[in-house]
Amino acid sequence: MSDTLHTLLTEDRSYEPTPEFRAQANVNDPEVYQRALSDPLDFWEGWARQLDWYEPWKKVLVWERPFAKWFVGGKINACHNCVDRHVARGLGDKVALIGEGEPNDVRSFTYAQVKDEVSRIANTLKSLGVSKGDRVCVYMPMIPELPMTMLACARIGAAHSVVFGGFSAESLHERINDAGAKVVVTADGGWRRGHVVELKRITDEALAKGCPTIEKVLVYERIGDATAYDKGHWDSSRDVRWSDVVPQQSVDCPCEPMDSEDLLYILYTSGSTGKPKGIMHSTGGYLTQTYATAQWVFDYKPDDVFWCTADCGWVTGHSYIVYGPMANGVTQVVYEGTPDTPDKDRFWRVIEKHGVTILYTAPTAIRTFMKWGDEYPDRCDLSSLRLLGSVGEPINPEAWVWYHETIGKQNCPIVDTWWQTETGAILISPLPGITSTKPGSATQPFPGIHAAVYNEIGDDVTPRHGALGFYNTAEGRQPDPNGREIGGILTIKEPWPSMLRGIWGDPERYYNVYWSRFNDAYFPGDGTKVDSDGYFWLLGRIDDVMLVSGHNISTMEVESALVDHVAVAEAAVIGKKHEIKGQGISAFVILRTGHTGSPELEKAIKDHVAMKIGAIARPDDLFFCAELPKTRSGKIMRRLLRDVAEGRALGDTTTLADPGVVANLKERYEHES
Ligand code: WT7
Repeated sequence: MSDTLHTLLTEDRSYEPTPEFRAQANVNDPEVYQRALSDPLDFWEGWARQLDWYEPWKKVLVWERPFAKWFVGGKINACHNCVDRHVARGLGDKVALIGEGEPNDVRSFTYAQVKDEVSRIANTLKSLGVSKGDRVCVYMPMIPELPMTMLACARIGAAHSVVFGGFSAESLHERINDAGAKVVVTADGGWRRGHVVELKRITDEALAKGCPTIEKVLVYERIGDATAYDKGHWDSSRDVRWSDVVPQQSVDCPCEPMDSEDLLYILYTSGSTGKPKGIMHSTGGYLTQTYATAQWVFDYKPDDVFWCTADCGWVTGHSYIVYGPMANGVTQVVYEGTPDTPDKDRFWRVIEKHGVTILYTAPTAIRTFMKWGDEYPDRCDLSSLRLLGSVGEPINPEAWVWYHETIGKQNCPIVDTWWQTETGAILISPLPGITSTKPGSATQPFPGIHAAVYNEIGDDVTPRHGALGFYNTAEGRQPDPNGREIGGILTIKEPWPSMLRGIWGDPERYYNVYWSRFNDAYFPGDGTKVDSDGYFWLLGRIDDVMLVSGHNISTMEVESALVDHVAVAEAAVIGKKHEIKGQGISAFVILRTGHTGSPELEKAIKDHVAMKIGAIARPDDLFFCAELPKTRSGKIMRRLLRDVAEGRALGDTTTLADPGVVANLKERYEHES
């Protein structure tokens, strides 16, 4: 049995909501589950009605598997609901965004100020030729202008495609062209660990590789150092300084009424193949579910200060910085930099300084803080906190308990939220005023969500009525293709409002990836166990996707970056258990003749991957070998490499073309690393 599974199976601690928390919670009646179950469409419709619509929908759902349309015929604008609606109901003076820069500069915007600035940005985009239906690529640091630019796109009906500021020129180039973006919005740079990330220079590099659809580049001056422009390339027919155009624009910019099903954004995520998938989210259903889940899971109250530490380059920032929280009119912190700048107490300083009440962060960060030690949080006043959240990967019970005790002082419920870029919003999570939590379990599907466990052959084996769930194939428990034992396969059986509407430019891939595995349910790619209380214990990916610090990276993506290096003939990549990151990247590399392995070459190859994809994909370790374990049909058996890297006894090797290869590899690996 794997360690994780063992820990999870033996985890029996349970934490009930306190009577005080329960009493004040936005939802505290367990009956909501039954109500939503008996009529899910009515449940979602109730949430949609709380938003402003220009025209009501004619039908809540049209479902032609695998295509869903929600609130069909309704007309709505996401930016209006996140901004103007609050100003109109007298909340214009409420702070919307507290922008905490890494160098300690704070720039805050009220909802009224956000409305004005978003309108100016929107008018600027229009003046640069952007109109309804176009795509705008956003490549910015985590400053308030990033969410405001996203909202400006939504305001005029252009889809944003945000690319995380840590991605390389090559990744940016690929995403710009895939989306066919007309404009890139970027900045001269952003602050990260005391250094400037030169976003404009990287954008120039991306565009130099050829981006035929790009007409203009709008550049926000974050660093404000003219040399950032002068040293780099400045193409005056293409590049536009933010300060030259945005402040001059009118603050009048009507919101474009959009069809409920119109594209709100594209966001790229890694899949099992090398090519990232442009996940498409539409407007009405997405906004409804991000709004609903944010309100119930994070339990917002008018005075809350919410801090989601994700970057807007990931889906967490889209759904739980921009759309969910802002549709709820909450006050939030937007932090630019890293948790260790200038010191390892930066997160706790930010909480103290701004009185953060709700913190939403990732297990990888929590494990890092644990390792740094309690002295950092102990220096700061964290008494403002009342609720803690986790997202991105399974949280190990040890980290959960540390989070609960050291950060939450045993006084804050923890919401461990399971979802994906594709699901758009939280699907499995506690409701903090109702659910007793268990460390390591995301607990139960959100009301209205029908999650289930399937076995390999597609039977619904979700345990009911107290049966202990540990199911796999018809022949009994079996290892998954990656060699880990899993309880079963997570599926979602009914459509939900914020589900992806497809993959940009690749309709077949949408079906193949998510709907071909089982014919009657959505397949997210995660293994899960369900316990006798019906609680879900998510067990990680069952495909060739790694979860590195909570971010999807495909093994193939890294492999193709590796073989792109002149010295590399062949490569295989696996996700290896990593104390902090959840999974780290291990690369096995066969060199071309004429090249010999050396620490210098190892570094050069790792750097090459970081240059091709971004620092997040840099392999943690790299092992030179002469051969890779392959099946007779030539398929690399990654599960055996995982056995080697994680020091386990080798699994079944009978299908290998040459079982000697892996035995040899294991011996050398253990000897050399
Ligand atoms: C994958 C999706 C959701 C936003 C961040 C990641 C894993 C996510 C949890 C959780 C266990 C989790 C899953 C999922 N995951 N949250 N609470 N417990 N696993 O978005 O990059 O699309 O990754 O992250 O494996 O499939 P993403």
